[in-house]
Amino acid sequence: MTALSLSLAIPAADDASSPVTDEPVALLQLDLSDPPEAASAVYREVRRGRRVVAVACGRADAPARLAQALDAIGVVAALPVPGAGLLSGGVSVVAGPETAPPRPASPPARPLRVALAGCGVVGGGVLARLLADARFELIGVLVRDPAKPRDTAIPSGLALSDPAALLAREPDVLVEAISDASTGRALIRAALARGVHVVSANKQAVGGDLPALSALAEASGARLLYSASVGGGAPLIETVRRARAHGEVVRIEAVLNGTCNFILNRLSQGVAFDQALDGARVAGFAEEDPSADLTGLDAAAKLSILAHEGAGLILPVEGIGRDTLDAQAPSGRVRQLARLEAASGIASVRLAAVDGDRLFADLDDEWNALRVTTADGRVFTARGRGAGRIPTTESVWADLSDLAAN
Ligand code: HSE
Repeated sequence: MTALSLSLAIPAADDASSPVTDEPVALLQLDLSDPPEAASAVYREVRRGRRVVAVACGRADAPARLAQALDAIGVVAALPVPGAGLLSGGVSVVAGPETAPPRPASPPARPLRVALAGCGVVGGGVLARLLADARFELIGVLVRDPAKPRDTAIPSGLALSDPAALLAREPDVLVEAISDASTGRALIRAALARGVHVVSANKQAVGGDLPALSALAEASGARLLYSASVGGGAPLIETVRRARAHGEVVRIEAVLNGTCNFILNRLSQGVAFDQALDGARVAGFAEEDPSADLTGLDAAAKLSILAHEGAGLILPVEGIGRDTLDAQAPSGRVRQLARLEAASGIASVRLAAVDGDRLFADLDDEWNALRVTTADGRVFTARGRGAGRIPTTESVWADLSDLAAN
């Protein structure tokens, strides 16, 4: 896969909710023999805030296959017809030659030694990708029950149930994808204290403790990456960082929980509450204990992370006012909306009507969305699949790939 550099500033399409006009453009020439890998390359550019023109090389259906792989992550791609403008959307996919140009040979590097903690929806997705990528050597997998059957089997000798034994194997990186807050946080702390880089998808662990964890990482020289902890595959943390780099963030509004969004959409279609919740569980959107989704606790932890990223605020998760979603949910175009007013530090997660607000109203299934407003009135937005194995794994994978590249 070859990335051609193209650093043009192209005006963005007119989008009332996203008047940002200066995203750079990446031109990628992609070999479609492995659609998920090609989609990963596009995703990494998107989360850097770039518009992408992807040239899909391979059979005639290569563009459609790439668009499908991107949709699974939550990246919407346009397939412009010949003669139409290439950059009308965030990602444009065009057909390339049958054979992609050879990749430039990269120098052989020692594989990164990776310890994986958790092997559920996200950890299981990461496990499969780690086992298929020579850049990484999997050295241990922390699980509660090593004997439990899994979609991807843990290779013999790698399953462990003792966190200390996992770190004793001396990983370069810990991928932390466990659902429990305190176990996750203790493990992240122990890893960072040893100088082990951490990639976490655990919002409850990171959200309650981000300033302290960041300080620990800085002191030991380890990196702490946690893109997947907010928004699944939607690049929400990256968008907030871009907004902050532009200017003072005054407001954050967001739909941050895929399960609630999925349930609210189903309720508006007349589906019963319990059936909608079951659907979210089966799809792998809901937490092991879905009360964290339904009471807004999950979204509050994510908002606390965004508040720190956007405005340097330390918001205890328990202090964020919340509404609970249950069978008595209000009708109409309702969302579980997280809001932060940065000046006052007032933050909440409320069930709110969003009828006229297209960014949030047109949010299907488990999708999440974010709007950040800066002091000069500029608005930054992002959308994507907010939960589920494929998009969340992709986000962890992009963090891991960034580490491997460095
Ligand atoms: N339970 C979470 C959600 C998973 O539904 O958003 C992703 O963080």
